[in-house]
Amino acid sequence: MSFNTIEANRRAAHFADRDQLWLFGYGSLIYKAGFDYIERRPATITGWQRRFWQGSHDHRGTPDAPGRVATLVEAPGAVCAGMAYLITPDLFGYLDHREKNGYLRFAADMTFDDGPHAQGLVYIATPQNEAWLGDAPASAIAHQIAHSQGPSGANRDYLLNLAEALRAMDAADTHVFDIEAELRRIERGMS
Ligand code: SIN
Repeated sequence: MSFNTIEANRRAAHFADRDQLWLFGYGSLIYKAGFDYIERRPATITGWQRRFWQGSHDHRGTPDAPGRVATLVEAPGAVCAGMAYLITPDLFGYLDHREKNGYLRFAADMTFDDGPHAQGLVYIATPQNEAWLGDAPASAIAHQIAHSQGPSGANRDYLLNLAEALRAMDAADTHVFDIEAELRRIERGMS
């Protein structure tokens, strides 16, 4: 699959026939919507965990020096906290462009923090996409993040904004918080 997933998402047209739908955000979509939504509610999805395993050539890095951003990987029983937005399908142009560096639209069952479930949409970058980087020690991920930046800004800001937003939601995520701690160490000149 090519870097650019705009065409694949447009062709598959998942959820394009709905009047309204829920979008689950777990990365930058938690702390920066950047679009108008009808309603926003904290939510979780089960069976997935957040990982900084996706390369970013277009937002927080460049093709020559990719940054690292969040994607979801399957993990039976795991619960991933995020933010759900009730949106209209006319936002797909904006969202597909924003998530074009490897992310595809998938169906997700999300549970709102105050109870009910909804079937909705989530953008996930899978290992089949060419920007995929995969696993690495937290210290190596933090080093890469510390030294990357792209058109949307410094990669460190993506990580720190996400960690702060998760804390504000009382959501624990050791993967994110471990990388954040490593980044702080690097920035204090300790490694
Ligand atoms: C998301 O936030 O749901 C997708 C990944 C990102 O845009 O950071």
